[in-house]
Amino acid sequence: MKPMKKPIKKPKPKSSQMWGGRFEDKPADIMQQINASIDVDKRLWRQDIRGSVAHCNMLVAQNIISEEDGEAILKGLEQIGREIESGDFEFKPELEDIHMNIEARLKDIIGDVAGRLHTARSRNDQVATDFRLWVRDACSAVIEDICKLEDTIDTICREHHASVMPGFTHLQAAQPITLGMHLNAYKHMLERDKGRFHDCQKRLNESPLGAAALAGTPFPIDRDMTANELGFDKYMHNTMDAVSARDFAIEFLFCCAQCGIHLSRLAEEVIIWATPQFKFITLSDQWSTGSSIMPQKKNPDAAELIRGKTGRMNGNLIQMLTVLKGLPLAYNKDLQEDKESVFDSFDTIVLCLKAFEGMLSSATFHTDEMLAAAEDGFTTATRLADWLVMNLNMPFRDAHHVTGRIVKMAEEKQCRLSDLSLPDMQGVEPKITDAIYDALKVA
Ligand code: ARG
Repeated sequence: MKPMKKPIKKPKPKSSQMWGGRFEDKPADIMQQINASIDVDKRLWRQDIRGSVAHCNMLVAQNIISEEDGEAILKGLEQIGREIESGDFEFKPELEDIHMNIEARLKDIIGDVAGRLHTARSRNDQVATDFRLWVRDACSAVIEDICKLEDTIDTICREHHASVMPGFTHLQAAQPITLGMHLNAYKHMLERDKGRFHDCQKRLNESPLGAAALAGTPFPIDRDMTANELGFDKYMHNTMDAVSARDFAIEFLFCCAQCGIHLSRLAEEVIIWATPQFKFITLSDQWSTGSSIMPQKKNPDAAELIRGKTGRMNGNLIQMLTVLKGLPLAYNKDLQEDKESVFDSFDTIVLCLKAFEGMLSSATFHTDEMLAAAEDGFTTATRLADWLVMNLNMPFRDAHHVTGRIVKMAEEKQCRLSDLSLPDMQGVEPKITDAIYDALKVA
């Protein structure tokens, strides 16, 4: 005869009230520390509540929970939103993350009914949904700041469409250009950056909700309904992909890094232009700093910091690429490491865009210095060679050679090309006429 089974004693979970059913002991302090993400993911609170509202509405519509319970849940969520908004909400690290913090508070407010909200849902599809909603909004915010910087650049371009300056290759004066032309190049870069954020936003706009832990759920959920309510274009068909895909985060991090690199290139130019050696630009006092020892210094710190902050955005991209590499399907806790770098890159790119806008819109450009620099450095030499080809029908290689000899002569005489006399130039190439002087004017 089999011995009678002892009645199962239901142990009171000493562990997390959310998942502690089978646990006898609570997590070690350091375990709690490594596991908790609330300090980072509390930024998802709006999205978490929004996702829960949509999920709750769907559960009611599908008769999975009663209308009465649904109403209680919605009222509770609304109250939690107000509490967080006003700073009255206590975030608890022992509740790990934003999802469990909100659910626990919901239970405080409405009692055991709160436990019905998580029907047909897992934190895995919940966090993926929250995070997509957050990045979607983040893309719009970055795009708005890019537009503002573009407007500032546009204004300067219009004002300086004819302000001559040297264009550089190898950072050596190459050919005359205008400041408008130079800055307009950055407008084009920013346009592409904007396009990348738009693409990222479009591609991520699919709903993971309903994927549950990884395999879907036996409840008769309506994934179209939640996707619609949350403004997603559609729901993600493969539930394993839905909970574990983070390429949208990587794409966002790349968009930030690339935009940062464009800003960093322009920052580098501003730094060079602001040197006493160049004197192309003076930054306003509001956007410069002084030195504590050298009274004459006016440093372009904002530009340097924008250049420097590119490092962290590149680092954030590499961080997330590395987290995802080698992760088997589906959810793994490594994925909790996906938010900090995204938040940081977002904060950084927004700060850099705003700082650049402020710094540029208050800067003064010194058109006289730029023009003088364009006149030095033989920047019209290519134009001279082109003149020889166009007017004397010379092969370009020969024209290049003749021009080289004329440049050498000017170098020896320590004058500009336009200061050479006609007989001097005719000494190199007798067919040159005084019509050449038109080609030697930088304007
Ligand atoms: N805080 C978690 C994260 O950000 C939520 C998902 C937890 N899922 C789990 N199976 N433990 O990834």
